[in-house]
Amino acid sequence: MIRVRTAMEAVPAYVAGRQGSVADVTNQDLAQLASNESPFPPLPSVRAAMARAAAGVNRYPDIDGLLLRTRLADMHGVHVDQVVLGCGSIEVCRQAVTIAAEPGSEVVQAWPTFPEYATITALAGARARRVPLTGARHDVAAMAEAVTEQTRVVFVCNPNNPTGTALTRAELAFLLDTIPSWCLVVVDEAYAEFADPPEFGSALELLGVHENLLVLRTFSKAYGLAGLRVGYGVTDVEVASLLRLVRIPFGVGSIALAAAVASIDAGPELAARVAMVQAERDRVATQLTGLGWEIPSSQANFLWIAAGEAQATAAACLCAESKVLVRQLPGGLRVTIGTEKENARLLDALGSPVDLPPTRSAAGGSASRADPCSSSPLISS
Ligand SMILES: Cc1ncc(COP(=O)(O)O)c(C=O)c1O
Repeated sequence: MIRVRTAMEAVPAYVAGRQGSVADVTNQDLAQLASNESPFPPLPSVRAAMARAAAGVNRYPDIDGLLLRTRLADMHGVHVDQVVLGCGSIEVCRQAVTIAAEPGSEVVQAWPTFPEYATITALAGARARRVPLTGARHDVAAMAEAVTEQTRVVFVCNPNNPTGTALTRAELAFLLDTIPSWCLVVVDEAYAEFADPPEFGSALELLGVHENLLVLRTFSKAYGLAGLRVGYGVTDVEVASLLRLVRIPFGVGSIALAAAVASIDAGPELAARVAMVQAERDRVATQLTGLGWEIPSSQANFLWIAAGEAQATAAACLCAESKVLVRQLPGGLRVTIGTEKENARLLDALGSPVDLPPTRSAAGGSASRADPCSSSPLISS
């Protein structure tokens, strides 16, 4: 066996939302509501741009992604040197921890939140300080208090994955005013396009005020390009130049760059899709609440169904039985908003929490042979 870094001992494997087997994925009948993806295929104009870029892939992409960065800078009213790209916003998360943390450092984050922050923290040999959510929302006072001399990065997921809850502008301003300016604050806005004030405040508005702020956005969610891997960060010019030092060279490919630019051009069409998802989200949330499920107000393209383990397992089983893939996590189920048809299937599958069959309990282990929980490859936990 090879000798590896001590830090590897603390690195958990990435647990992706269940996507089904290859056979399942080609099965049009499967509702994939486990990974917070867009239910819509890329727009024709975006596909055309991808096809044009595909003709030139014998060449490396533009290492600086200048055209895309210029378009993003214009969109957000910042200087192009403030924009950094990554192979998904996950890569920019890694860049952030890589430039700031080392063994002995601490990285503050809420819990539950996007688990990749903890993995990246472990990879750096640093320690994650997890601050529990209160009422499914970030506890900003506790997060600010968790910052010590050793803290190098604070992650704020807004809206939060998996709860869908958002921080207001005032809560963000409080955090940034309180956290020392030598500590990098990463506000991950992967789902921002689905969010609206006053429940949600974007940290982009605070960029001019705090040079220790890095705001992350992605083309994977509202823009529907999860399979291409392109995300970005907006920050202070000096932080951006540090992030660029540790990026994966040529990490964002030419097809991804072209698709992202074409998607910005298609802004109004994509905004209409986002509006459809928002409307569906609110409709599904109202219906699930009416059935008796506890759903915190979501500002994202998914809903968090708070439930105990046995109840969440039973609900996930019922979904699997109806070929609906959802994400079971400690404390509940996360369901992505899909097409109207997919959401209808989810609602049909779930029913009321009080009516769930107790034999499907995770702890009970008494599932019958006919129970989809005992055999389904579609259960994701
Ligand atoms: C909060 C959050 N940040 C970042 C990501 C990763 O996005 P990307 O596809 O841009 O790497 C996800 C993906 O699920 C997410 O939930």
